[in-house]
Amino acid sequence: MARETERNFKMPIFREDDPAFRDAAPAPDLCWASPMDRTTVVAVKPTAVLLSALLGIPAVLAAAPPGDKALLGLIRQRDRLERVTATPVDMDARTAHLCRAPVAPRPEGPHKGARLQLFVSPDAADSLYDPWAGFPVGTLILKEKLPKESGAGPELITGMLKREAGFWPELGDWEFFTTDGKVSSLTSRGKLETCAECHRDYKDRSFVTKLVTIPEPGAAAPPQQTSSGKVVLHAVRAAVKGSRLQYEPPQNKNTLGFWTDPADTASWQFELHSPGLFSIALTQGCGKGSGGADVELAFEALDPPSDIRPEPLRFTVEDTGHFQNFRERQLGSRDLSMAKRWKLTVKPLSKPGVAVMDLQRIVLEPVPK
Ligand code: HEC
Repeated sequence: MARETERNFKMPIFREDDPAFRDAAPAPDLCWASPMDRTTVVAVKPTAVLLSALLGIPAVLAAAPPGDKALLGLIRQRDRLERVTATPVDMDARTAHLCRAPVAPRPEGPHKGARLQLFVSPDAADSLYDPWAGFPVGTLILKEKLPKESGAGPELITGMLKREAGFWPELGDWEFFTTDGKVSSLTSRGKLETCAECHRDYKDRSFVTKLVTIPEPGAAAPPQQTSSGKVVLHAVRAAVKGSRLQYEPPQNKNTLGFWTDPADTASWQFELHSPGLFSIALTQGCGKGSGGADVELAFEALDPPSDIRPEPLRFTVEDTGHFQNFRERQLGSRDLSMAKRWKLTVKPLSKPGVAVMDLQRIVLEPVPK
């Protein structure tokens, strides 16, 4: 099961005299959504917080969700979130057409094209790379829509806020909202049917498309380093070579499996905006009695091409009792400062048991200088 850990909203608990409580008045109705879609933000009395502490109810249930002003404040400070897109990426043409404010239609047609930047709460960033991972309460995801020409500011922002359990169970308790490009006002927020129309198709992904981080097969965009410098290489995006090795999609698997032929390899390409020294962790599982395979991680500089290769990383697979009993292994660190674009290949060197391992993901984290 996708675990949905609860946590407090990343903001202070508002007092009743806080302006955020008094700004529940709807923003000017420029919104796509009918007024009926709009939900009223209900203030939670401080006594409720105290009561929840006494009764041991998770505080998040008592913490007030952000009012309009507080939400706008969070959106304006989006640089504090994790930016998933190092540089703006092209937006799907159909979405670009539909993703616009209903008023002031722009003279240009849908073929003009648009780009997007994606931001997410730092502790929820990893969930965007895993098809099955859920999101903690309080997660904020923002999608800036930018015009095709570089340099121009956003046209608008669409966003999703993971609300308290029970807010909108049919849509994973997500609240949807939109702002103008300058983030001067919320143009809509609430249980927006106009957004749910598409996002409900992504129920298995907790209603988040994850299409920027897990593109449709065929869309070859390599994973980008996030603004904090992390690179997540999940099994779902691995390129496999060989006879048996494959990505197994079911939720209880969600891994590279059938590694019965040690000649099979898995690889990923990725791009670094801040090359440097990285610590490398690999999440593996291995059935009882099959541990002990020696495996190598080889790094190849693609752009600019370089003959100076970091020393391959070697490790020995650990028996975890079951192939889908995953454990994260810290493998060591490597200097990847000589190139921006890389290929990482995982090659078995031996296979003492029935299979090498199940491999779920590899994470590269920058080592602070
Ligand atoms: C026509 C279908 C469609 C509609 C309607 C739609 N979306 Fe999306 N949404 C997408 C697609 C496709 C993506 C993937 C990124 C892209 O191509 O723009 C996406 C991505 C997002 C993301 C980034 C996280 C993710 O799911 O990957 C947010 C946030 C978002 N949409 C919010 C909204 C909001 C708010 C509305 C309503 C105002 C809305 N969307 C309406 C299709 C839609």
